[in-house]
Parts: sequence; C-alpha cells; structure tokens
Amino acid sequence: MDQRAAILDFARAISIDAGEILLQGFRSPGMTVSYKGVSNPVTSVDQASEEFLYRKIRDRYPDHGIVAEEGHRANGHGEYLWYVDPLDGTTNFAHGVAHFSVSIGVFSKSESRVVAGIVYDPCRRELYSALAGEGAFLNGEGIRVSASDDLSRSLVATGFPYDKNISDKNNLAQFNRILPRVQCVRRFGSAALDLCYVAAGRFDTYWEMKVSPWDIAAGCLIAEEAGGIVTRFDGRPYDVEVPEVLAANPLLHGLFLGLLAHG
Ligand code: IPD
Ligand code: CA
Ligand code: CA
Repeated sequence: MDQRAAILDFARAISIDAGEILLQGFRSPGMTVSYKGVSNPVTSVDQASEEFLYRKIRDRYPDHGIVAEEGHRANGHGEYLWYVDPLDGTTNFAHGVAHFSVSIGVFSKSESRVVAGIVYDPCRRELYSALAGEGAFLNGEGIRVSASDDLSRSLVATGFPYDKNISDKNNLAQFNRILPRVQCVRRFGSAALDLCYVAAGRFDTYWEMKVSPWDIAAGCLIAEEAGGIVTRFDGRPYDVEVPEVLAANPLLHGLFLGLLAHG
C-alpha cells in the first residue's frame, strides 16, 4: 500500500474512534461548555477528541505537522501537515442536536495541496473519504455532485461567522441576495458536512466566509474529488489558509460566483 493510502486508512480508523468519543459525550450530563467568543462554544468533548487524535497522529507520524482547532500544534519537518477538527458542529453538539462530525485533512507540502481527507458523521455512521486524483467515497461507495443546472430548484447551504455580532461582514448581504433565487438555503452547522453533502449531491452548492483550515481541508478535497468546483469567491482555486469557500456542481458554480461577486 502506498503512503497516502496508508495515511487515509489511519485517518479513517482514528476518526471512527474519535466519533465514539463524541457519541459517548453527546447529551451527557458530564459535558461542560465554555465560550471562546460570545457565540463560539467549546466543550469538554471537543478537547477529549482532540487530545485523542493528536496523540494518535503524533505516535504514528512523529515527523508530520499538526494543526488542530483547540490548540494542539506539532511542527513536523516531514512532507505532511494534518488539519484536525475534533468536533465540527460544536454549537449543535452543545445543544443536543445530532449533526456534527470529525474532520481530518492532510496537506502535502511539496504539492501545496490537500491530498487526503476524511469527514466522519458518527450519528449517521457516514464516513466520507478522498485521496487526490482517486475520487470521493461515502462508506466506500463512489459519490458525485448533483447534475442540476436549475438555480431556482437548487438546495444550497451556508454558515454564519462567530463574529456576526460585531462585524458587518457576516454573510447577510450574500444570504439576502441568494435566498430569493434558490429553492432554499440550509444552515446545518457543520462546514465539513456541508461540503460532503455537496459531494454526495444532496446540496447543489455551499458557500461560507471566515472558515478555518480545519473546517474545510478535508471537505474541499472530497467535494472536488466528487466532481465539484471548489474556489474562493473570486473564482481562484480554494486555499485552506484563505477563509472563504464556494463549492458547487460545475453547472451552477459560475452562477454562484456571480451572486457572490458583489462582496
Ligand atoms: C463551525 C461549523 C459551522 C461554521 C463555522 C465553523 P465548529 O465549526 O463548521 O458550520 O459555520 O464557521 O467554525 O466551531 O463547530 O468546529
Ligand atoms: Ca469547525
Ligand atoms: Ca471544532
């Protein structure tokens, strides 16, 4: 097995185990919630999941770098950098809403791109995966983006940033422009799963601003490998370090670029 396939297998196994940590903590009286900002929660379960994932990756790949949302960092000198979101959808989780995921994207320094991605939804036992150039999969079955070109029938997803209370750049202008033109907009609360739902053809499009690398690294690769077009709002290729993303099927992507172009 080549190294990337081995990395993906390992990421798959630890995501499923981290998903069990999430399920054990879900709706449990032992879970504690604190706040990183007015509306930005972190729970004891985010931290337990991150501690577990960080230790596992460190032990297996001591020379790889790691950037995990809740603060674990490793400055590996090796070829790969792991972006880890131990619980994407914390607001849902903290409210007992069963829609959240574990997201792991592995970035190749020499290729300057994400080359392996796993997003695991433990509530539905849905595991999305991709290796660069090898397609996207849901529980081992190939997935494709939708083939709809009808904007008015499109189901699209978005999110709102945690600083929406203090910033005018809060996605409301884009939301107001897009909502009247589409079938409807969903705000499900896990950016990683939003991207995977585009990959699986459930959503036709997803856009969001002020996302972080751990939110989108895995999902962007999965959406792209499923035939989607994944860019910034100006049409340039997505970059996990640039905090905006538009993922859409190829027939609708240009229309959404136009709708997002006005800022
Ligand atoms: C958040 C979720 C949400 C998105 C936010 C993210 P978290 O991640 O992905 O859907 O709108 O931008 O920060 O805080 O639940 O890991
Ligand atoms: Ca996240
Ligand atoms: Ca998170």
